[in-house]
Formats: sequence, C-alpha cells, structure tokens
Amino acid sequence: MSDNPVPLLTAKDLYKDFLTSKKQVVHAVSGIDLTIYEGETLALVGESGCGKSTLARTLIRMLAPTRGHVFFEGEDITGMPEKEFKPIRRKMQMVFQDPYASLDPRMTVRDIIAEPLKTYHVCRGKAEVTAKVRELMGKVGVPEEFLYRYPHQFSGGQRQRIGIARAIALDPKLLVCDEPVSALDVSVQSQVLNLLKKLKKEMNLTSLFIGHDLSVVHFIADRVSVMFLGRICETAPKEELYQHPVHPYTRFLLDAIPQADPHLRDESRSLISGETPSPVNMPSGCCFHTRCPFASDLCRTKAPQMKDIGDGHMVACHLTM
Ligand SMILES: Nc1ncnc2c1ncn2[C@@H]1O[C@H](COP(=O)(O)OP(=O)(O)OP(=O)(O)O)[C@@H](O)[C@H]1O
Ligand SMILES: [Mg+2]
Repeated sequence: MSDNPVPLLTAKDLYKDFLTSKKQVVHAVSGIDLTIYEGETLALVGESGCGKSTLARTLIRMLAPTRGHVFFEGEDITGMPEKEFKPIRRKMQMVFQDPYASLDPRMTVRDIIAEPLKTYHVCRGKAEVTAKVRELMGKVGVPEEFLYRYPHQFSGGQRQRIGIARAIALDPKLLVCDEPVSALDVSVQSQVLNLLKKLKKEMNLTSLFIGHDLSVVHFIADRVSVMFLGRICETAPKEELYQHPVHPYTRFLLDAIPQADPHLRDESRSLISGETPSPVNMPSGCCFHTRCPFASDLCRTKAPQMKDIGDGHMVACHLTM
C-alpha cells in the first residue's frame, strides 16, 4: 500500500440484525468500523457464523444496515436513492463461494458473462457483446470455443473463472470475494488465487477477500481483519498480523498454521476451551471473554475499544490498554 492510502470504502459503526422465524434477534454485525483503501486486498477471517458474509453484503448494499453508514469514494451510499446508487453499484462486484449456485444452469457462458454488460448497456449490439465476452474469457483463462457451453459442462475451477469474468465485466473498482476458493480442490485453489492476483494488478482492483484458510489469506492479502461474533477484534498489515498477533483470538487462529511462532503456540492451546457464544445472546463486555483464558472482570463488563498500537495495527483487547 502507498504511503498515503486513499479510502475507497469506509464503514462507520455498522450494525446488521436479522429476525429469525422465532422472532429472535441475531446480531450478525455489531458496530463495525472499517476502511478498505484503494488498491489493497483486505482479507476478512473468522470462524463460521461470525458475520463475514453479512458484513460484506452490507458493505456493498446487497443488505441494508440496521444502523450505521457506508461511504464509497467519500459518498454516503446508505440511504441513497436506487437511481443515484446504480452507477455506484457497477463499481462493486462480488464473486461467490459456490460457482454451482451462483451461475444459472440454463444460461450459456456467453449469456452469463453478457448479463451485466446488457444491464448497463455498455455494448452496442450482439456482436459487440460477444466480442467483449470473448475478451473476458481470455482474461480469466477460459477457452473461447466454450462460449456456448453451459455451467455443468465445466469443472469447478473453470466455473469460478466464469463467475470472476462476470464480476469484472463492468471494470469494477471493488471486488468482494466471499470464500472464492473454499469449494475448490486444493490443486485448483492456487490457480484461481493467482488469477485474482493477476487481475488485481492488471485492472487496478481493490478487493475484500473473505477466507477461513489462513495460508490462502497469507498468499492473497495486504492487510487482514479478524472477526469474532460480529465484531472486528484485530486489523493489521499481513506480515505484522502473522508475526505479531496481539488479540488472544488471532493468536488462537494462527496457532493452527505451521509457521506460527512456537512460543505463542503453547500458550494459546488453552484458548480452545469454551463454546462460541450465540449472536442471539451476545455476552456482556468483550464478546470473546467466555473463551479467553486471560479474561478479567473488566473484560466481562466493558467492551474494549479498537486501539491503534502503531504501524496500522489495531486491536480491541483490554490486555493491550
Ligand atoms: N438471512 C438471515 N436470517 C437470519 N439469520 C441470518 C441470516 N443470514 C445470516 N444469519 C446469521 O447471521 C450470523 C452471521 O452469518 P454469516 O453468514 O454472515 O456468517 P459467516 O461468517 O459468513 O459464516 P460462514 O463462514 O459459515 O460463511 C449467523 O449466526 C447466521 O446464522
Ligand atoms: Mg459466509
């Protein structure tokens, strides 16, 4: 990242609640402040159900927040009328985890990739659309002769490439990738990750990358935010986070990967104890206190604020105060 990073998207005190069929309130995202800077890849990690997808969808207005605001290129997009938002929407695109589910099985590859081009009338006439689709297929490494094939005629990796072609068709500024390689064979994962890296460079993309595999995240990210129960507990540049994790939860997550500091490894084993609380009954104080071996009375009563500990490293933990 440059010395003077320019914010592309900023979330301020963002909340997203869901109401279940039993009329319970699920606090999926709780008071998140976050900035994605132009040109960077920010990764979001955390265990299943901690709110990563909900946060991502709320950031790009696929979901309306319960509270809080999202700014894109300095403009508050939260309550913006749909008509005004439309040209902004095309600048934020999403790649989904499951390329089976996200591609319409009745549509040919040509029509799948052409859909956004048609919605935004960026081409004149069929021939121009087809030419643009061919160009996009080339960009993502799907042979052009497969133009009229259907999704089921491709491998998982190729289907994800098609999903990526559709997402980049409108030349977006922000690409949100929600576990884009989690459903793929390990051997195919690195090919798709390399493609994302290549496109990022070629197209000057900014991206939010959601993942749970920390080696994948290490490969792709510039900065990493760690989420637990709807909140961000630590954000830092990648190397800083992997080498000097501060939050007990981050240390616990990193303990599972081989290159973690052996000193931290032993200490954090004890962190595994305890169940993750439910986002329906959020614990008081720090949301991690029920699993944290270092929790004090303060942690049980008062939620820690995010604190900048230098060099862009932010932590929300009373232990660092
Ligand atoms: N539409 C919905 N209605 C009710 N609850 C929801 C809805 N969508 C998500 N949730 C709940 O919100 C919480 C966060 O879910 P979310 O899918 O954002 O988590 P995640 O971190 O993306 O998980 P995963 O790693 O499994 O994809 C979970 O408790 C989930 O059950
Ligand atoms: Mg998810």
